[in-house]
Amino acid sequence: MDNKLFSTIKIRDLEFRNRIFMPPMCQYSANDGVLNEWHIAHYLARSIGGVGGIIVEASAVEPRGRITPNDLGIYNDVQEGEFAKLTKLVKYHGAKIGIQLAHAGRKASNDVPWRNEQTLDELHGGWSIIAPSPIPFDKDSLVPREMTQKDILDVLNAFESSAKMAVRAGFDFIEIHMAHGYLLHEFLSPLTNKRNDDFGGSFEKRIRFPLNVAGKIRSTMPKNMPLFVRISATDWIDGGWDVAQSIEFVKRLKEIGVDLIDVSSAGISPEAIIPADFGFQTKFSSMIRQNSNILTGAVGMIVDPYQAEHILCTEQSDIVLLGRELLRNPYWPLHSAKVLKQNIQWPLQYLRARLT
Ligand SMILES: Cc1cc2nc3c(=O)[nH]c(=O)nc-3n(C[C@H](O)[C@H](O)[C@H](O)COP(=O)(O)O)c2cc1C
Repeated sequence: MDNKLFSTIKIRDLEFRNRIFMPPMCQYSANDGVLNEWHIAHYLARSIGGVGGIIVEASAVEPRGRITPNDLGIYNDVQEGEFAKLTKLVKYHGAKIGIQLAHAGRKASNDVPWRNEQTLDELHGGWSIIAPSPIPFDKDSLVPREMTQKDILDVLNAFESSAKMAVRAGFDFIEIHMAHGYLLHEFLSPLTNKRNDDFGGSFEKRIRFPLNVAGKIRSTMPKNMPLFVRISATDWIDGGWDVAQSIEFVKRLKEIGVDLIDVSSAGISPEAIIPADFGFQTKFSSMIRQNSNILTGAVGMIVDPYQAEHILCTEQSDIVLLGRELLRNPYWPLHSAKVLKQNIQWPLQYLRARLT
């Protein structure tokens, strides 16, 4: 019998060869938002390594929405053309490939983590940033400009246009980034959204813009193409966004035609106290799966094949996403198949190294 981890999953018309996914992980290695040899090698290795699905790192829908000057972007033809090369190569080795469409909001305009992770002002290669309300992330961060109704419309159109590019570039599915304190999460959370127009205040108003974005993207995508949304299920701060609100919000996303929720947490504030430990976020996935009646992905310190199998068999999620573990070991799926005594297809070129 197949292990659950290695069973296929079909979402709309797209079938993934197993339930092991690579979550989006910024590489901060692009120039002008365009991918290069690093990204090709990085994503291709995980496809050869046997993952079922790859979600390409946060890719900004406009230059202002990049976290750092070296983020990927998906807002011009050159970027689209290079993504088309990547999707073809990755798909050839069996993984399906999606892209995370993102806008960093008040967390934009920072230096890359290994240089100094500081906010970049305009004198040092940074740019002016926008957010639902003019509240900086912390005392060292830039103060964002409060978005006007026109800004909201412009960003909505940017998401739509990037989704069209993603479809043309051959992506199999799309994920919208609504987590980790970036722009759409900033609209959701009462800690960062202090607006008193149609896009802030009550729960209904805070979810309005993120729902509009999901609706717009869904309507530009082919009917048979899956749409994922990543959320932070909780801010881990009293008075912030929480699991109860997530459950209601996800029901609304489902009505719009979102297929799967990739359930992460945190990122809205440096003051959050996060009890990070093995599988610490899977309970949120489980709660959303049960109460919102939707497919979910569990992520966060999933590292071991038995742990991953257990999460799926106990119906806490429908897929598992392994971030840092796949950075450490791109061949994790091949090794896990051996541990779980699952016969899977190896790359032909590597057959002589097959673990038996
Ligand atoms: C280097 C790195 C970059 C990341 N970039 C993103 C990103 O672009 N978008 C996102 O939603 N999460 C991002 N994350 C979070 C991961 O997708 C994942 O949720 C997190 O690492 C927890 O999973 P793990 O314990 O398996 O690593 C990043 C994490 C790492 C380590």
